[in-house]
Amino acid sequence: MTQTRTLSRTAAETAVGRAAETTTVIRAPRTADGAPLWRIAVDSRVLDANSSYAYLLWCRDFRSTSVVAEIDSQVAGFVIGYLRPQARNTLFVWQVAVDHRFRGRGLAGTMLDRLVGNVAAHGVSTLETTVSPDNDASLAMFAALARRHGTELEREELFTPPDFPDGHQAEDLYRIALQTAAHTEEEIIDDHR
Ligand SMILES: CC(C)(COP(=O)(O)OP(=O)(O)OC[C@H]1O[C@@H](n2cnc3c(N)ncnc32)[C@H](O)[C@@H]1OP(=O)(O)O)[C@@H](O)C(=O)NCCC(=O)NCCS
Repeated sequence: MTQTRTLSRTAAETAVGRAAETTTVIRAPRTADGAPLWRIAVDSRVLDANSSYAYLLWCRDFRSTSVVAEIDSQVAGFVIGYLRPQARNTLFVWQVAVDHRFRGRGLAGTMLDRLVGNVAAHGVSTLETTVSPDNDASLAMFAALARRHGTELEREELFTPPDFPDGHQAEDLYRIALQTAAHTEEEIIDDHR
């Protein structure tokens, strides 16, 4: 991909890195991203691989609370989340994944920062996620995000193994108070419009 081509993309698609050979774009997902998101989730061997249909629906209905990263026009990673219906100032981050080939270069952190920036501008002030106790990479990633917001991860029990029907590990809840500007109720994102 040439730089010119990247710069001709829509304003919502922002190039964030241009090394000599690669161009990285962080943007909202489109329905066509459902298939590569499902593939990356399956290939991670860590995430719960939901049905391919779930990822297609996610890209259609929760695109304003999700982002994908493209490297040279290939989907390289994603963050998918939603605003909690009971607390619409809270972004729940459901899954984060980066294709094996693109790990260790700050892509997950960049996607999280972009998504948090997007939703914070609409009044979101808290991020929640769940992490299984053995997922050190995930914990490190969210701890780093918390540090960038001048805070620490708050942990509480959410789902324990007996809650699951299939031998699933615990999913502990982690909360981050985001540094955001003052906001009003009306600024909350509405995914249904
Ligand atoms: C977790 C994952 C998304 C990280 O992607 P990435 O692009 O390599 O992460 P980044 O390079 O942006 O690193 C973000 C932070 O996490 C840390 N980190 C990333 N992978 C790590 C690992 N395997 N072990 C320890 N720390 C790790 C980084 O050091 C960095 O922290 P820092 O800013 O303090 O240096 C990726 O490893 C992945 O897809 N894993 C499988 C799916 C998964 O577990 N998702 C998270 C749960 S939803």
